[in-house]
Amino acid sequence: MNNQTAWWKKSVVYQIYPKSFYDSDGDGFGDLNGIREKLSYLEKLGVDVIWLNPIYESPQVDNGYDISNYKKIEPQLGTMEDFDMLLKEAHEKGIRIILDLVVNHTSDKHPWFTEAKKGKENLYHDYYIWKDTIPNNWGSSFGGPAWEYVETAQYYLHLFAKEQPDLNWENPKVRKEVQEILRFWLEKGIDGFRMDVITLISKDPAYPDGPVIQNKAYGSYYAGCASGPHVHEYLQEMNREVLSKYDIMTVGEAPHTSADEAAPYTASDRHELNMVFHFDHMHLDYDENGKYAKNRVKLTDLKEVMTKWQDTMHECDGWNSLYWSNHDQARAVSRFGNESEPYRVKSAKMLGTILHMMQGTPYIYEGEELGMTNAHFESIDEYKDVEALDIFRDFTERKGFSEKDTLELLGLKSRDNARTPMQWDNTVNAGFTEGTPWIGVNKNCKEINVEQCLADQDSIFYYYQKLIQLRHEMPIITDGVYELLDKENESVYAYLRKGEKETLLVVGNFTDKTINYHIEEKVQAKKSRLLISNYNAAETFERDLSLEPYGACVYLLEAEK
Ligand code: GLC
Repeated sequence: MNNQTAWWKKSVVYQIYPKSFYDSDGDGFGDLNGIREKLSYLEKLGVDVIWLNPIYESPQVDNGYDISNYKKIEPQLGTMEDFDMLLKEAHEKGIRIILDLVVNHTSDKHPWFTEAKKGKENLYHDYYIWKDTIPNNWGSSFGGPAWEYVETAQYYLHLFAKEQPDLNWENPKVRKEVQEILRFWLEKGIDGFRMDVITLISKDPAYPDGPVIQNKAYGSYYAGCASGPHVHEYLQEMNREVLSKYDIMTVGEAPHTSADEAAPYTASDRHELNMVFHFDHMHLDYDENGKYAKNRVKLTDLKEVMTKWQDTMHECDGWNSLYWSNHDQARAVSRFGNESEPYRVKSAKMLGTILHMMQGTPYIYEGEELGMTNAHFESIDEYKDVEALDIFRDFTERKGFSEKDTLELLGLKSRDNARTPMQWDNTVNAGFTEGTPWIGVNKNCKEINVEQCLADQDSIFYYYQKLIQLRHEMPIITDGVYELLDKENESVYAYLRKGEKETLLVVGNFTDKTINYHIEEKVQAKKSRLLISNYNAAETFERDLSLEPYGACVYLLEAEK
């Protein structure tokens, strides 16, 4: 049975933010040749797949999520030859590559848009969404209204920056163009796509007002965009016409999508996507101002959300994508663990354990395997992200927050936290570039870097290497049925993965206290074996565990007959 399991169900994905990974030519920007140079590092870690954030030609208003040519490589990152070499060399090492597909919107510099805005008669006008008057109160993700006026062609919709006009998916020509793009890259031999905000492509034709939430200046567009009327039809068409013809994986970014709503996207008999990225666990520390809040996630809430997704995806024969962080989020250890010494390394390993033993495909965001932390920028001038700059303006000018408080919030949640350069060694600029890095390097790079991790057998890097290896070796990590233990416990996350003959017991202490933890009697073991732990845990299962601060352990249990 396991022979038939799709490869992406047994894989671990490593996400690379190319601009910040490794700069091979000294211009301060990471590039494709830089990634090539570091392939052996990724091979050593043991990951199966690389997801590259957008590498296409782009004015870089939103770091590549504004694409002006889908079939050209962004010159800062390299050339098509560089890409072909990267793909070839990765494949030679047994590493697959998936690309970011950004087709909810293009750049306003894309020729389709420069044509479209010439006027209503233009052949490309209908590639985008235009209205004669502003139809609703929607705000765009990076500030201001979601509608922008162009004299020749009226108002166009942009859910993100005004330089990112939304494509009109109702136009069959647009859908054909997207299929064309997919084919172009798939014919090159890439191994799949991460689809940017793909659940937003179909808009409610009524364009209803959205509720004004999180003390924002405008209404939310989600009610009129998330999982809109034709989204499943469009994805099934894309699957039928293109995706199904290749042995690939697809993961859709799915903002504002509950587990029940995600089921139709991922259920295997629906032929849409293999899995989605949900945000339910990312929303747990929001407050009345949304993401930019000081709250910490409550463990019982986290367990509820993760359990709901584990159960729902299992029941619908869908699949989970598992992540703590990505290029839009704070660093995992800073947000969910404890970035302060002496807990950073332990809590990073604990988080890795809890996530990697779940059912689904784990995603490691670059630097997570080193326990890289938030950026700790001290001034707004250090921030580069369009979202951070907008939040600073909005919170200080409209909401009346002090600059100090706003900077503190950005320090906790800004997307730039995840975008500081990868820390390779303790030389200048953490060995990322010989030039001036496009964004500041984290000051802790002297202590936290690849060189240091590789020299320390007890590092997070080697722990992640082992987590990955376990997934490759043990089918139960792919197939076992998840069962949450001790739901109400505020300090310990404990769960089982049940197979036919064996069970995994996974335990993680989310606090900085030692906890004497009793495993409930229903968990039985005749024989047991410790698979991995980040402290000196007993070699065989004991019902009473003395869990060190941020301690985590995984036991393989063989039940009594
Ligand atoms: C997604 C991307 C994010 C980008 C946005 C608009 O959320 O992950 O980085 O800004 O879409 O494309």
